[in-house]
Amino acid sequence: MVWLARRLLMVVLTLTGGAAATVSANDQAPSQAAPYAQSTAAYKDYMLQCAGCHRFDGKGAPSRGVPSFRQSIGVLTRLPAGREYMIRVPGAAQSQLTNAELANVLNWVVATYSPGQLPRDFKAFTASEVGAVRPYRFDDVAPVRRRLTEELKAQGHELAPYTFGSN
Ligand code: HEC
Repeated sequence: MVWLARRLLMVVLTLTGGAAATVSANDQAPSQAAPYAQSTAAYKDYMLQCAGCHRFDGKGAPSRGVPSFRQSIGVLTRLPAGREYMIRVPGAAQSQLTNAELANVLNWVVATYSPGQLPRDFKAFTASEVGAVRPYRFDDVAPVRRRLTEELKAQGHELAPYTFGSN
C-alpha cells in the first residue's frame, strides 16, 4: 500500500511537472492586453489548476460557493482592492502557478469570461503586482467579497452571486 501511494504520488508529480514545463515553454509573456484570450499557456494553466472548481466555461458552482466568472469577474478589476482580492483569493494565491503564470491566468480569465465588464483603462495583471500581495493570506475571504460587492454595487456594477456562508 505504501508502495502504491508513493507510486501514485510520483505519477502526479510527473504529470504536473511535465505540464508545467510544457506550459512555460509555450508562454508568450504577452505585453499588451489584447492577446490574452488567445494565450495557450494561460488556457492550459486555467484548465489544470482552476477549472476543477470554476468549470471549463467559467460558470463555477454558485450553489457550492464558487461564483461564476461570466459577465462578472472583469468588474472586480475596477477597484484596486478588487484586483488584490483576485490575487489573494485562496484558489489563486495557493495554486502551483508562478506569479507570472498567475498574472497571465487572471488576464486570460477576464479576457475570456468577462471582457465587457473591464474598465476602458484596464491594465493587465503583472508578475510584480501578483508577487506584491500574494503572500498575504485572507483570514476570512467571505466578508472581503461581500464588501467589494457592496462597493461595486454603489458604483452601479453587479457581481455574480456569492453564496458562501449565507445558507
Ligand atoms: C478548490 C476550488 C477552487 C480552485 C481550484 C480555484 N478556485 Fe477560485 N474560487 C473558489 C471559491 C470557493 C471562490 C469564492 C471565494 C472563496 O470562498 O474562496 C473563488 C473565487 C475566485 C475568484 C474571485 C471570484 C469572485 O467573483 O469573487 C477568482 C479571481 C479566482 N477564484 C481565481 C482562481 C484561479 C485563477 C484559480 C486557478 C489558479 C482558482 N481560482 C482555483 C474556489 C476555487
